Amino acid sequence: PATPMIDPFGRAVTYLRVSVTDRCDFRCVYCMSEHMNFLPKPELLTLEELDRVCSAFIAKGVRKLRLTGGEPLVRRDVMTLIRSLGRHLESGALDELTLTTNGSQLARYADDLHAAGIRRINVSLDTLNPDLFAEITRWGRLPQVLDGIAAAKRAGLQIKINTVALKGVNEAELPSLIEWAHGEGHDITLIETMPMGDIDGDRTEQYLPLSQVRRALAESWTLDEMDFRTGGPARYLRVKETSGKLGLITPLTHNFCESCNRVRLTCTGTLYMCLGQEDAADLRSAVRASETDEILNAAIDEAIGRKPKGHDFIIDRTHKGPAVPRHMSLTGG
Ligand code: GTP
Ligand code: 5AD
Ligand code: SF4
Repeated sequence: PATPMIDPFGRAVTYLRVSVTDRCDFRCVYCMSEHMNFLPKPELLTLEELDRVCSAFIAKGVRKLRLTGGEPLVRRDVMTLIRSLGRHLESGALDELTLTTNGSQLARYADDLHAAGIRRINVSLDTLNPDLFAEITRWGRLPQVLDGIAAAKRAGLQIKINTVALKGVNEAELPSLIEWAHGEGHDITLIETMPMGDIDGDRTEQYLPLSQVRRALAESWTLDEMDFRTGGPARYLRVKETSGKLGLITPLTHNFCESCNRVRLTCTGTLYMCLGQEDAADLRSAVRASETDEILNAAIDEAIGRKPKGHDFIIDRTHKGPAVPRHMSLTGG
């Protein structure tokens, strides 16, 4: 196997997150504003170019690849890319090929994803109340997503539910959402809102510290710390009463940057070395500069050589605007 890339802080970069499109069929209130200016199509890397860049990272020791968005399954012909990337699973160069999706297209794609070698997916779901679901996503239909999750389960995909904890919105429902997920056999991870991009609203009103949620849950449940890690930023608790796993992603209340193992590629070929920093490298020019990979490889090495130490996210009354101007959907979470 390839020796992994090491950043200036001694961290091995083994996880690449790829936002294959900034577009989405929903407009979640903590993620996007209602009227988004999406990138013009000519700016995008082609599927072949995305494949080349991903493959270059795998040759440099990346072992886990996650496609995100926006909504990855709304990118035209995305299965062509996924099938092609599946070859790295077969060769043993990649440990995991996976997806973070809003579930809206899963009913259609679940079997194909499994056939391409995907075994585990993360599905974003913030509520089981259809009216609240429509409110949070601005127009999404809950049954469509639940059908998608059911199809994925039938197809043999392991599912992790991602829930952004929102103060006074889904806060009261979190225990029943966790019980539902565990009852269905899914892990579930709660996420703190991060100040990225303009959302037509005030994030300080939505922000719910997970330290507070954990204390509230601990009043009725026994929560045991687990050693379990997926290579992502979540820390896991075992809920004794449901015997399910509960992940907590707490960039604001508990910084996890010191064990960061990942970088992110946007659909335009920009590499962001940290979710919460502007540091970037233009891999689109590098991939288009030549048919062979020398220039691309050099650009990747140069970028990893200046990966920042961590984010400076903060949400409080004195910091009104987003910490980074770009949306999560462009950077791929
Ligand atoms: P697993 O493989 O299941 O551990 O997935 P993951 O948690 O790495 O990925 P997922 O796409 O499910 O992301 C869940 C949330 O974690 C999203 O809101 C991401 O934005 C956030 N996240 C992932 N990586 C980072 C990171 O490096 N820094 C911060 N601040 N948030 C991250
Ligand atoms: N802060 C935290 N999580 C976010 N997501 C989207 N925008 C934000 C934000 N500003 C979540 C989605 C999805 C995951 C990839 O990122 O709900 O679960
Ligand atoms: Fe789309 Fe996910 Fe953002 Fe919601 S959180 S608008 S589903 S990308």
